Amino acid sequence: MTSSPIVLITGALTGIGRATALAFAREGATVVVSGRREPEGQSLATELQKEGAPAAAFIRADVRHEADVRALVERTVTRFGRLDVAVNNAGTEGATGPITEQSAENYDAIFDTNVRGVLFSLKHQMRAMLAQGSGAIVNLSSVAGLIGFAGASVYAASKHAVEGLTKSAALEGAAAGVRVNAVAPGPIQTDMMERFTGHNADAKAGLLASVPAQRAGTVDEVAQTIVFLASDKAKYLTGQSIAVDGGFTAQ
Ligand SMILES: NC(=O)c1ccc[n+]([C@@H]2O[C@H](COP(=O)([O-])OP(=O)(O)OC[C@H]3O[C@@H](n4cnc5c(N)ncnc54)[C@H](O)[C@@H]3O)[C@@H](O)[C@H]2O)c1
Repeated sequence: MTSSPIVLITGALTGIGRATALAFAREGATVVVSGRREPEGQSLATELQKEGAPAAAFIRADVRHEADVRALVERTVTRFGRLDVAVNNAGTEGATGPITEQSAENYDAIFDTNVRGVLFSLKHQMRAMLAQGSGAIVNLSSVAGLIGFAGASVYAASKHAVEGLTKSAALEGAAAGVRVNAVAPGPIQTDMMERFTGHNADAKAGLLASVPAQRAGTVDEVAQTIVFLASDKAKYLTGQSIAVDGGFTAQ
């Protein structure tokens, strides 16, 4: 990785994506943040410019649409000449509830973003990286990509798919110097966790009590792991999923 890598992050306007954009900017990277909301995206780009990434840019993309993702990668490469790091962070938890209550609409909403979005992001990112003979990709999986999750079966299935895409892409990229890994966060203090626990303090406390570390993780704790996986310190690390979960999946 160069000393000022070109870093692309999807779904970067909130939570883990936003923290990751700031972490890369502070490391001196050139960060392209992407998401669906133009004004929020432009204001994040301005913030990143002040935080050490003077060329930071926002490019609008909804990862459910391949054309958006293709244009996002093409515009990044046209503007900056290369793509060194991609973080496929955009994701949705959809509606929670038992399998017996699942709907086709919920399946489509979750899989369109979490699986189709990651697949077509990988497709276009890997084309660029294979052509240049280097690159590192980090996909956002979840502890629900490693173990089952009662009440969140479709989300868990989508994140298990992210694990499969990660390993397969890693195999396809390894000989060409393109690494693909995942991070699998446990409960992290973001809007998603609040939605996941129904904005209910008791439900949230119950979830956190099941974490050996007895607390939620912070967005920065996930961001630092992503920065590490994308760096040359992790040069021989590919096809892996690192759980950032306070011990949750060690139980
Ligand atoms: N917070 C947690 O506890 C937790 C745990 C495990 C995994 N994750 C994963 O981490 C990632 C980030 O989640 P977060 O916790 O920061 O939540 P978040 O809701 O703050 O962030 C998700 C972001 O993705 C964006 N997004 C959703 N659909 C999109 C689409 N179709 N196109 C573009 N952007 C889209 C959202 O607008 C949002 O900005 C997700 O993939 C999530 O599944 C989160």
